[in-house]
Amino acid sequence: MKALSDSSFSASSASLPENILVNAKSLALVENEPVCAFIYDLESLRRHVRSLMSQLPKGVELYYAIKANSEKEIIETVAPLVDGLEISSGGEIQKVLNCSLRKPFIFSGPGKLDSDLREAIKHRVEMIHLESINEIHRLENIAAEQNRQQKVLLRINPMLPDHLATKLSMAGVPTPFGIDEKQLAEAIQLVEQSEHLILSGFHVHAMSHQTDVQRHQRLLDWYLEKWGEWKALVTDTSNLCYLNVGGGMGVNYLTPDQYDWSALCRHLEQSLKQHPNPPRIRFEPGRFISAFCGYYLIQIIDIKQNHGQTFAICRGGTHHFRLPVAQSHDHPVIHLPMGNPRDYGNNRSDSWQTVTVVGQLCTPKDILSRNQSFSDLQIGDLLVLPMAGAYGYNISHTDFLCHPKPQQIFIDSDVIDAHIQRSDQHVATAC
Ligand SMILES: Cc1ncc(COP(=O)(O)O)c(C=O)c1O
Repeated sequence: MKALSDSSFSASSASLPENILVNAKSLALVENEPVCAFIYDLESLRRHVRSLMSQLPKGVELYYAIKANSEKEIIETVAPLVDGLEISSGGEIQKVLNCSLRKPFIFSGPGKLDSDLREAIKHRVEMIHLESINEIHRLENIAAEQNRQQKVLLRINPMLPDHLATKLSMAGVPTPFGIDEKQLAEAIQLVEQSEHLILSGFHVHAMSHQTDVQRHQRLLDWYLEKWGEWKALVTDTSNLCYLNVGGGMGVNYLTPDQYDWSALCRHLEQSLKQHPNPPRIRFEPGRFISAFCGYYLIQIIDIKQNHGQTFAICRGGTHHFRLPVAQSHDHPVIHLPMGNPRDYGNNRSDSWQTVTVVGQLCTPKDILSRNQSFSDLQIGDLLVLPMAGAYGYNISHTDFLCHPKPQQIFIDSDVIDAHIQRSDQHVATAC
């Protein structure tokens, strides 16, 4: 495990990057109402992605799974640095098309619509990852109708050894993802008989949120062992060269130690060197790319005690940031004192040790973090939840209770004009 230089885990404001601190405080000072906003640091995202790319072994590719965060500014920042983009819906095809730089894109996911497949082919999708026998038939018909030869990977749900499964497994257990390994021979035969499909390799995205790099290394080694076995089922191997090993690198929300990407890359490099006939490896992570650049900023509206517990009630909540509930964790919270601009006198928490940080929703499940220790917490103070850049806003039920959407603020040293307000509440600032 390694501490990532660009991530900021801590409950103390000292560890918050200066540009986030300054922007958070100035936002609270100019707003008439308590603030809630996502702030994204695009320069730190750029540095992080450059660093990941620079450590990849030769010939190994990395695509960004945009489902983790498909805001235009995030895609625009990441796209020039990675080999391509991974998408899983028709809506995400549009996101790729809206990007000013045209990158190769690949299409996975169960339940693809015919219209999505048509749109993907029309816009020259690089590869489609087929998830079922039925999808093979449908894609062949659509590719024939468009008179196109389409490269495909077969997504496999393999029989994983028990010790390689994770808490959030998508393979090795019954799931809607991929083709059961027992049906692989049948699927391969079908693709080989399909005149408009070119079998280019295999795809396995077995898990999300793996924080243990050694387990991940063992998983990759196991895939490399299986590659020969899977390949042996193919009659014509002339186009078969890709092994897409998915994403799934975890983010440690609760300790400063982060997934050791360099160790994974070094290990993979050695494993590929020892392999007699290695495939071309492709990664497609989402969370590990965009998580660290995002911060969820909320302001305290009320502080109160109820049945012996202290609650800080904040503008915003899990309808903007469902991640802590989705992960069943208490998200780290950084306290930014604001000099008490909205305190009515008695609501200080200085005698209270631990606080539950909640949002504005009328449900007891609207909890962002329990048992957080603060000293001198006051109404009007800001709280910042770091590592909010992946599966944060975009997985949340934003329409519940009809609260306004949070602002999305993108800080970038490349942007000269401060506070360019756009109609959809995005703001870009200089840092
Ligand atoms: C097929 C596929 N690839 C990549 C990803 C990205 O996973 P992660 O964000 O855990 O890296 C996902 C996430 O669900 C996925 O389903």
